[in-house]
Amino acid sequence: MIEFKNATKKYGERFVLDNVSLSIQGGAWVWLTGASGAGKTTLIHALIGAVQLTEGEVLVDGYAINKLDTAALQEYRRKLGIVFQDYKLLPNKTVFENVAFAMEVCGYSDKQIAQRVPEVLATVGLADARHHFPHMLSGGEKQRCAIARALIHEPRLIIADEPTGNLDPTTAEEIVELLLKLHIKGATVIFATHNLSLIERYKKERIHVEGGKVQS
Ligand SMILES: Nc1ncnc2c1ncn2[C@@H]1O[C@H](COP(=O)(O)OP(=O)(O)OP(=O)(O)O)[C@@H](O)[C@H]1O
Ligand SMILES: [Mg+2]
Repeated sequence: MIEFKNATKKYGERFVLDNVSLSIQGGAWVWLTGASGAGKTTLIHALIGAVQLTEGEVLVDGYAINKLDTAALQEYRRKLGIVFQDYKLLPNKTVFENVAFAMEVCGYSDKQIAQRVPEVLATVGLADARHHFPHMLSGGEKQRCAIARALIHEPRLIIADEPTGNLDPTTAEEIVELLLKLHIKGATVIFATHNLSLIERYKKERIHVEGGKVQS
């Protein structure tokens, strides 16, 4: 359960989030929409503790994200699967190594890595491309690799900030279908997008940001 309580974020005199209160139930799929600059990424950053609110709070399963200390915040972030528009893959590492590296950084053993990486690559349909470098992958494959990396800790909450922004319509749908599979298994998904045809096609809850306010 995610709750924004009177969340306000000001940059200078501008209210990007203006006294926003909303709740998202565990297991939901929520489209996050709004014009460029409306505050979608800011809302997401507040949720992952990457931005300090000017006022108000964000609670996840009852815990106030802005009150977590550095260690607790790191622990919390590990439980999230975060996916971006620009993939953020390491160019000099293969698909396998990109995912493995994320596990190494978190202190997993070689044995755990050897077991888990093939599992997540199979989940996203990239088992055969495991030795490919990012430059050899299509945009959709790059995003699948980024999603595989986001899945290493079996996140219950997946936060995707325009993950299909650089993809053609068919590939975008494939990425949505992949995330839907994870959603059906129980993950909460928050998906920021400008793509209205996806929203039309997959009818789900929607949160729209405009003028610092949200409408559900
Ligand atoms: N660190 C910052 N300092 C000052 N202003 C910022 C900062 N980060 C974001 N903003 C401003 O906050 C507003 C909201 O930005 P945000 O990135 O949340 O929009 P968005 O809805 O994600 O847009 P897009 O669809 O283009 O990704 C924008 O006007 C942006 O310029
Ligand atoms: Mg954004």
